[in-house]
Amino acid sequence: VGKPTHALLVHDDGSEEAVPDVAAGIGRDWATENERGQLELLYDYRPELLPSGQWHGDGMWRYRDLLPLDDRPISYPLPVGGTPLIAPPAVRDELGLPNLWLKDETRGPSASNKDRATALILQQAMTSGTRRVTCASTGNVAVSLAVGAAAAGKEAVTFVAADVAASKLRLMLQSGATVVKVEGGYEAAFRLSRAAAREFGWIDRNTGVNPATVEAKKTAALEIWEQLGREVPDVVVVPVGDGPTLHGMAKGFREIVACGASQRVPRLVGVQAEGCQPIKHAWETGERVRPAISATIADGIAVSRPVSGAAAVRDVVRSGGCFVSVSDTQMLDAMRILATRGGVLAEPAAAAALAGLLVALERRLVGAGERIVVLVTGSSLKTPEFLRAHGRVIEVDGDLDALRESLG
Ligand SMILES: Cc1ncc(COP(=O)(O)O)c(C=O)c1O
Repeated sequence: VGKPTHALLVHDDGSEEAVPDVAAGIGRDWATENERGQLELLYDYRPELLPSGQWHGDGMWRYRDLLPLDDRPISYPLPVGGTPLIAPPAVRDELGLPNLWLKDETRGPSASNKDRATALILQQAMTSGTRRVTCASTGNVAVSLAVGAAAAGKEAVTFVAADVAASKLRLMLQSGATVVKVEGGYEAAFRLSRAAAREFGWIDRNTGVNPATVEAKKTAALEIWEQLGREVPDVVVVPVGDGPTLHGMAKGFREIVACGASQRVPRLVGVQAEGCQPIKHAWETGERVRPAISATIADGIAVSRPVSGAAAVRDVVRSGGCFVSVSDTQMLDAMRILATRGGVLAEPAAAAALAGLLVALERRLVGAGERIVVLVTGSSLKTPEFLRAHGRVIEVDGDLDALRESLG
């Protein structure tokens, strides 16, 4: 492992412990059964760690000086990162938000933001002789790892809940993964995947366990900053399940400040589902993150016992932001706006971010004139069961007059 020079261990109660020897820290099993905490890698920050020159959409390896990589050439074969920051005119008009952007993370090899962490873990793994890589997943992480492992010549063993979405399961299997269905839901799958990685010596890509996953996720923040002309936005809205996507965003923006390229970070708005909001609840009450029920169509953010909950609360508070929650109906409506006005196909967990922005605007937590970036984390191509018809079908027998009449 390359650049990180030191680290922090973030405990469940949000407190931090310095870890001077990063190499030892990475090798150690921090997130043990008693959930000791999460390792956060830190660098010797200075301006040269940020890329110079024009943004070319050239992918996340552009930020390699801020990634735990040695100097060997990148051999991971799939293009990852460099996703578009869309200025959507019709969405802006409809919502009255002149400074809204969509960071379209559905453009990766498996159509979700998970492809960044998959790429970094596999890039590290390609230089090791270990054949198997594992993760537990609500769906997208496992699809991403299955696709990435296929490309990297590794074997993915993915652990999922027994009720995992059928379309996501099919994609894992199509890519050749071994899929372990676990009774007891995502939390049980997570524990078993971790135990298997330890027992069998597999590479562990588990969210919130391997600190490299957050390092990869932070590159989306670095891209947003470059795409806005090396300026940070006022607000970034992120859907929150386990928490590392938000944690990665926060870390990315903090590192821009630490490198001397910005004076401030954006306010982060974390969005949870009304049917599963343990992190928002902890933020509201000031208590620890406690297990919650999970009842939502948004599988990606249906996480009852989030691994990175404490870090997500800490990051939102530090940024001056907030958490909001949204109903399934609000997510479906946000999917409609994104699809019919933005041309962006978002699955429910991803559309939750736009739905959450609308809630935050209504509560005046965000102003309509602010520079706002909404992270679109996954594609509705993988959740066909939640596609709704906002257009219409006209049946004609090939006659132009009949067509004219039907069009109305
Ligand atoms: C589409 C989508 N959005 C958001 C998330 C939430 O990300 P995190 O678990 O990092 O909070 C997930 C996680 O699976 C997801 O699949």
